[in-house]
Amino acid sequence: MSSVDSNDKWAALRGAAQMPPADGSEDLSSPDPETYTSKREIPQPQPLERHGPARVIAMANQKGGVGKTTTTINLGAALAEYGRKVLMVDFDPQGALSVGFGTNPHTLDLTVYNLLMQDDVDIDDVMVKTNVAGLRLLPANIDLSAAEIQLVNEVAREQTLARVLRPVIPDFDYILIDCQPSLGLLTINALTAAHSVLVPLECEFFSLRGVALLLDTVDKVRERLNYDLELDGILATMYDSRTTHSRQVLQRVVEAFGDKVFSTVIARTVRFPETTVAGEPITTWAPASSGARAYRQLARELIAATDK
Ligand SMILES: Nc1ncnc2c1ncn2[C@@H]1O[C@H](COP(=O)(O)OP(=O)(O)OP(=O)(O)O)[C@@H](O)[C@H]1O
Ligand SMILES: [Mg+2]
Repeated sequence: MSSVDSNDKWAALRGAAQMPPADGSEDLSSPDPETYTSKREIPQPQPLERHGPARVIAMANQKGGVGKTTTTINLGAALAEYGRKVLMVDFDPQGALSVGFGTNPHTLDLTVYNLLMQDDVDIDDVMVKTNVAGLRLLPANIDLSAAEIQLVNEVAREQTLARVLRPVIPDFDYILIDCQPSLGLLTINALTAAHSVLVPLECEFFSLRGVALLLDTVDKVRERLNYDLELDGILATMYDSRTTHSRQVLQRVVEAFGDKVFSTVIARTVRFPETTVAGEPITTWAPASSGARAYRQLARELIAATDK
């Protein structure tokens, strides 16, 4: 996908996001989500001869429960399957990403919080391995909620995450930051540290409204803190092919965001909540499931768009 590089384009995207919902008059005959998204040839990823520097991607949407954490876990695991070195950053005090890998965040000595607040903590001491080769995690727990308040008094408070990630940028191919559902200082830190933003968007009518606000925030961060910040794309999640509602929302999202919508659409399936209990990604827990296949396709799409 091409990067969004003019303010005009951003303004157009924001305007489109505010369009009224579909009135149901469109022809919505096909339950196949790819009928609505633009079809692109997705090549098989080539093996890498050397790793880094990392593309840092913030998974952001201030709406809760849209699939940010699920996408971080499973996209991370799928990228690692393709031989990419991936670091996932749990940047939500709820610690759902850390729990998703079977860690108990309350028993951790060192978390992202220590890394942000203490100069003598080394990132290598906070980073943990996962059960997926090539996939690492910076865990978080409720301590991180204090950082939001404590950072306010710091110099360059918005750049704190960018500063602590800098030493490991050469070691990874992708760094995925799982944001909390808010547009507060932690999310601003994630957007400042990132090269791009990936927005998981639930296929529900009300989800479109929040995106305008999110894109406004992304725009402000671009203007004031991170001039090169791009929008990787909008990922439609929790798509239910049986309901006209889901199809209408997907069609509306594609009308609003055009080729910024990933061709890959993540369907609603109970297998995702099940994997949270299992403490591992769907790509290893149910490798042949449609959910695993969808996240592998998303990984291929992302690699095709971002390979250097
Ligand atoms: N495609 C899907 N189909 C069905 N359930 C899903 C799907 N994706 C995620 N879920 C479930 O929905 C819930 C919310 O997902 P997730 O935690 O990924 O969202 P989130 O955006 O990270 O939420 P929060 O804003 O609270 O951090 C979880 O229980 C998850 O297992
Ligand atoms: Mg989450």
